[in-house]
Amino acid sequence: MAFLELIDIAKYFGNVAAINNVTLPIQQGEFLTLLGPSGCGKTTLLRMVAGFETPDSGSILLNGEEIVGRPANKRPMGMVFQSYALFPHMTAEQNIAFGMQMQRKSREHIKQRCAELLELVGLGELGSRYSHQMSGGQQQRVALARALAVEPQVLLLDEPLSALDAKVRISLRNEIRRIQQQLKMTAIYVTHDQEEALSISDRIAVMAKGKIEQLDTPEKIYSNPQTAFSATFIGNSNQFRGSIESASQGISRVDGSEQRISFVPQPQLHDGENILIVIRPEDITVTHQSAETESSSNAITGEIELRTFLGPFTRLHVRMDRETVLTADIPNQQANEYQTGQTVVLGFAAQACKVLPIGEAEIALVKQVEIEAVS
Ligand SMILES: Nc1ncnc2c1ncn2[C@@H]1O[C@H](COP(=O)(O)OP(=O)(O)OP(=O)(O)O)[C@@H](O)[C@H]1O
Ligand SMILES: [Mg+2]
Repeated sequence: MAFLELIDIAKYFGNVAAINNVTLPIQQGEFLTLLGPSGCGKTTLLRMVAGFETPDSGSILLNGEEIVGRPANKRPMGMVFQSYALFPHMTAEQNIAFGMQMQRKSREHIKQRCAELLELVGLGELGSRYSHQMSGGQQQRVALARALAVEPQVLLLDEPLSALDAKVRISLRNEIRRIQQQLKMTAIYVTHDQEEALSISDRIAVMAKGKIEQLDTPEKIYSNPQTAFSATFIGNSNQFRGSIESASQGISRVDGSEQRISFVPQPQLHDGENILIVIRPEDITVTHQSAETESSSNAITGEIELRTFLGPFTRLHVRMDRETVLTADIPNQQANEYQTGQTVVLGFAAQACKVLPIGEAEIALVKQVEIEAVS
C-alpha cells in the first residue's frame, strides 16, 4: 500500500466537477507533481489532502488510515502557498517558530530548530528580518522553513515559485528538491509550468479537466506520452491530425493533405482510426536536398519562414502547406546554412512519431492547449 493514497476522489462546485474520480497513490519520500492548465483542479486536489476542502466522495488514506473528516490542523502536513503568506508583524524567525509554539515545544527546542531551518533554506543571517525587508525569494524560503518546522509527514506546495522572476525560480526549485531529498520528505507540488515539473519531480500526474491523464516519471511523460493531451501539453511538438491508412504497415494519412506519414506499427491501432501524430522538434533533421531515404523514414519539403536563436540551439519554422508550419531544432553551428525563404527537406524516423488515438473529447482538450499557447 502506498504511503498516501487518494482513492476515487470527486469534488463538485455546483454542477462543475472540479475533481472527477481521481485515484493517486504516492510513495513515502516521493516528490510528486500535479501538472496541468489553469482550472484543471490542482489546487482543489491539494486542498483536500491538506484538509481545507472535503471531497464529495472517495477516500484519502495516510499510512492506511482514513483522514477525510480530520481537521486540517490535526493532519501532519505542511503547506507552502503561491503568495508568501508570512505573518507581516513577525520576523522570519518568529514566523518559523509559530507552528512549534502551537505544538507547545520548549523554548530551547524552538530556538535550535529555527537556527537549523534558517541554515537549511540558506537564510542563516536573516532570522530577525520582517517580510518587507526580504525579497520574494527570501520570503518563500521562510515560508518553506515554516512549513517544515512542524515536522510534517507530507509537504504540500501550491505554485510556490510562480510569483518569482525566472532566475530565482530556477535556483529556488533546485533548493526545494535538494531539501526534500535531504529530509526524505514526501511532497506534492503543484505547477502549471511543464519545465519546472519535468526538472524537479520523481513522478508527474498530468491533469486536465479534473482528471489524471497520465501518471509517470518525467522521462516517460516526455518521451512516451499516453494521451494526445499529455503529448501536446508537455514539451514542444509538431502535430498532425489524420487517420490510419494501414495499421499493419504503419502508414497514416494527414487531414487536408496528400502527405503520408510512416510510424512503427502498434497492435492497439487499427485502420481508419482518427489519430494525432506528435513529433518533437529535436527529432527532425534538416537538409537542403532529399537524401536517399529509407522506407521507414519520413521526408517533408517546405520553406523556411523563420529562424529563431534559442541559446543552446536554433529553431527553424518551416511551412509545409497553408495550414501547417513545422519546427525543427538544429545545432547553432549549422544555423548559418539555413536562411528564411529557402526550400528544405525535413526528415524524421518512423520511431520518432508518437501515434495517439484521438476522439472528440481529446480534440477539444488539445484545442484548448493550442488556444492557451497562443494567448
Ligand atoms: N470555491 C470554489 N467555488 C466554486 N468553484 C471553484 C471553487 N474553487 C475552485 N473552483 C473551480 O474548480 C475548478 C478547479 O479549480 P482549481 O483552483 O483547483 O484549479 P487549478 O488547477 O488550481 O488552477 P490554477 O492553475 O489557475 O490555480 C475551476 O473550474 C474553478 O473555477
Ligand atoms: Mg491553483
